[in-house]
Amino acid sequence: MDKVHILDKTFRKMISHEEIVSVTKELAEKLNREYEGCSEAPVLLCTLTGSLPFAAELMKGLAFDPMVTSMKVSSYSGTQSAGRLTDVMGPTMSLEGKDVIILEDIVDTGVTVTAMRKLLAGMGAKRVRVCTMLFKPEKFHDMEKVNGPMTEPEFVGKEIPNAFIIGFGLDYNEFGRCLKDIYVLYE
Ligand code: IMP
Ligand code: MG
Repeated sequence: MDKVHILDKTFRKMISHEEIVSVTKELAEKLNREYEGCSEAPVLLCTLTGSLPFAAELMKGLAFDPMVTSMKVSSYSGTQSAGRLTDVMGPTMSLEGKDVIILEDIVDTGVTVTAMRKLLAGMGAKRVRVCTMLFKPEKFHDMEKVNGPMTEPEFVGKEIPNAFIIGFGLDYNEFGRCLKDIYVLYE
């Protein structure tokens, strides 16, 4: 399937399922090297809903046994970032004194993870880092010009250009999340 139609838009294939799996495996190996021999494994915090397939794929490659929790956050409406968190639920366990790794499907403007870092620090997390399948550096750095410096995601699977994508968890108005490959908006 090279093209998909969702609601009023057409998307074309951009990243194959095989590439997603391989990028995610590399991220798992990075985390394995980071936590090899550590006395306390980090807590993985899955950001719902978009990060579910990525989190599940990443967990297959981990050589340590982390606690896993989740948080529901939203910042997107249609194909645009709303520029702030519009919906927050969870996390489902205390993060007091914990080393937390936020799992994200994608970091775009950076608004979501920057707000989450503050939120989790406020909940007493000892350390908060971000592991994201995809990163769009262009909008992130544009946002820094407006709002000042932000911490870049510490673990990045793949950098992509500034375009709207769907699939493997990523949605257009809640559709497209179950596609196995990733598709980009077709102009
Ligand atoms: P940010 O706050 O702008 O960094 O965006 C983070 C969240 O917006 C991600 O976790 C996604 O859920 C969503 N998002 C960002 N870019 C896209 C996209 O291209 N397609 C679908 N969702 C996106
Ligand atoms: Mg998300």
